Amino acid sequence: MKLSYCIALILATANVLCAQPKPTNYDEAKVGNYTLPNPLLCSDGTHVTDKKTWIEKRRPEVLRLFETQVYGRQASKLAGQKFEVIATDAKALGGKATRREIAIYLTGKKDGPRIDLLLFVPNGAKQPVPAFLGCNFNGNHAVHGDKGISLSTRWMRSTADKINVVNNRATEASRGSEASRWQVEEVIARGYALATYYYGDVEPDHVEGWKDGLRAALSKDGANTHWKGDEWGAIGAWAWGLSRALDYLESDKAVDAKRVAVIGHSRLGKTSLWAGASDERFALIISNNSGEGGASISRRDYGETIAVLNKNFPHWFCGNYKQYTDNAAALPVDMHMLVALGAPRPVYIASAEDDKWADPNGEFLAAKHAEPVYSLFGKKGTGVAAHPRVNQPVGDTLGYHVRTGKHDVTLYDWQRFLDFADRHLARKK
Ligand code: GCU
Repeated sequence: MKLSYCIALILATANVLCAQPKPTNYDEAKVGNYTLPNPLLCSDGTHVTDKKTWIEKRRPEVLRLFETQVYGRQASKLAGQKFEVIATDAKALGGKATRREIAIYLTGKKDGPRIDLLLFVPNGAKQPVPAFLGCNFNGNHAVHGDKGISLSTRWMRSTADKINVVNNRATEASRGSEASRWQVEEVIARGYALATYYYGDVEPDHVEGWKDGLRAALSKDGANTHWKGDEWGAIGAWAWGLSRALDYLESDKAVDAKRVAVIGHSRLGKTSLWAGASDERFALIISNNSGEGGASISRRDYGETIAVLNKNFPHWFCGNYKQYTDNAAALPVDMHMLVALGAPRPVYIASAEDDKWADPNGEFLAAKHAEPVYSLFGKKGTGVAAHPRVNQPVGDTLGYHVRTGKHDVTLYDWQRFLDFADRHLARKK
């Protein structure tokens, strides 16, 4: 073996070893000191003391930092976008709701990129109803056992048991497999519509997924641009899809599109936060167990870190985000500023006690440290000084709870989200 080859091999091995993220910290005492960037301090040194300066000067600056350093720049809506209601069942859920399936032709072409939106609207409402909108993980047919929902034909990660997804395609067995995370009956009973699309419609969730997703479809030469500086990552693309779904809801007379809550769990909770920040049409933002790269404070060394995210999911964020591997302190923003981009709109963050990977306290602190921005609007925040006890929801415009149990979305979570939406999205009398 040539010496130069040996040296190259040793260096490459060392590189791989060095690239391994350090062990996970789950000890609050070892989180270490950090200083959060001040959301109210402009890059030119101006201190924001009123909402006008926040809206006109600082907010656009913070939004730009998230675009260039974290999620990447969002594309605009495409010319020619069209909607087609593909199926309607006016007696869904035993007559309690109307189910619609809508094709969103993103370029207007039926054979072009498309999002399949599923919508349930409660029957008998006298006025347009508020709605929840979020991406699902396993296809629209997985959110409820309703046999009328079309089975997704898109790429899906095969399941180990080879039952729900075989050869990267969903099977009938997966119908309703994600139902406990959607609580459709509860949402309908409380007078809300529920809209969802399978995130894989926009981009299959794997490193090479961009090739079959919207990012390739939108890049002029089909080139792989997602590793470059501020080109958007998959989270940006999924969030963009939520905005396109909201475009449709604006055209649906049964829904009040001015009262739509964007919601998401885990990676899709990172997505809902970014969707709510980047599209101010969303009236309310809910992020469940979103963790690192979502609500949790990146500078806290607890649970997942940016290094782990960049290693395991390099396609989620923009190229520039790679600079912050093991260097969160250099990030010009932190996630309290992502929450603050929601202001003055209500934001709810939910954690689970056993979901330590997502750093529940870090998720709470993002809401807590967004409060100064909400104060500019005269809005009250979490109402507490420290991480509340389990199953004790807190907050006014910034809602938060940590429930007992694991990483998941449960009926308990939905009931809190619905209570929060009732408080903030009720039609003004
Ligand atoms: C992994 C990942 C998290 C993510 C989660 C999910 O655990 O590390 O960042 O939130 O998957 O989306 O389920």
